[in-house]
Amino acid sequence: MEENNKKKVVLSGIRSTGNLHLGNYYGALSKFLRMQDDFDCRFFIADLHALTTNPDPKQLHESVKNILAEYLAAGLDPEKNILYVQSDIPEISEMYLLLNMHVGIGELMRTASFKDKARKALGITSDSDEIEKEIIGNQTSNQRVNAGLLTYPTLMAVDILIHHADYVPVGKDQEQHLELTRRFARRFNSFYKTDYFGEPVNFNFGGEALKVPGLDGSGKMGKSEGNCIYLIDDEKTLRKKVMRAVTDEGPKTPNQLVSQPVENLFTLMDIVSGKDVTDHYRQAYADCSIRYGDMKKQLAEDILKVTLPIRERILDIRSNDEYLSKVVRNGAERARAYAADTLKDVREIMGIRKI
Ligand code: TRP
Repeated sequence: MEENNKKKVVLSGIRSTGNLHLGNYYGALSKFLRMQDDFDCRFFIADLHALTTNPDPKQLHESVKNILAEYLAAGLDPEKNILYVQSDIPEISEMYLLLNMHVGIGELMRTASFKDKARKALGITSDSDEIEKEIIGNQTSNQRVNAGLLTYPTLMAVDILIHHADYVPVGKDQEQHLELTRRFARRFNSFYKTDYFGEPVNFNFGGEALKVPGLDGSGKMGKSEGNCIYLIDDEKTLRKKVMRAVTDEGPKTPNQLVSQPVENLFTLMDIVSGKDVTDHYRQAYADCSIRYGDMKKQLAEDILKVTLPIRERILDIRSNDEYLSKVVRNGAERARAYAADTLKDVREIMGIRKI
């Protein structure tokens, strides 16, 4: 325990929308797994963040349970780490209100993720800069951009700062949120003339974050892209998805440049198969003997080697409500102890004191 105090604090979360896919697994979870022995890790399920996109209540609840089971099945150890659900920590909501007093609506509106989501909510496809006007003009229609979406970065900063986290392992898409977190911490410190908050940084084991491509020939694997392989996919579903992955007509001349959809499959193969396997197919591509069907069969096989054992464990854990609730109760208790300390300090610093 004494040693634990010296470990750097790691904090990361995932929004509870849907299930975990291979992109989450190789991009984030595998990092968490490598960190759990050497750091004081706290991982949580961001159900309050999920509310920003107004999910169906039943689905939200299911999703929280699923992701918890998937975290555990993938190997996150509830003894080594603090695993909790964001909404179980009421201190987060209170500190979110307090921190919002120091956050500008202008800087929030300029955040890339906000602009994206606002555009989606309003059904705007162009990336015109007129988004601000659209948002204000649309406040009364059904397609409103809710205030929670705007203040998403405040809530995320609170998730991080309430733990005084040193490291926040996240993908590239979250860099801007992390930058805002540091900015809010500096602002709080300078306004109250304190050095209370440190500045958390991303963590990637010295390398670039791994980007897992999707099966649709475009960019990265993502829930909203509909191009995912899920850890929970059964054998048949998974094989079907891989066999249907987008390719091209095949190489016509030796050493022809590889098209994006095919390169994506090679990249997936690099991640899940041995190097020998990928080399074999790259060579076959180069000499035009490649058969995409064979390559896909191999790829599906190698993905299944990773996901099937996890799937078995997910199903097992998912059916054990008692265990799941024990894990989150324990996690909440431990996380709340840290959160309560920070909130107490923040209230004190801001001048909220008992009369
Ligand atoms: N915004 C993150 C995502 O969409 C999830 C998240 C919420 C998070 N709070 C966090 C990640 C705090 C790291 C730390 O992926």
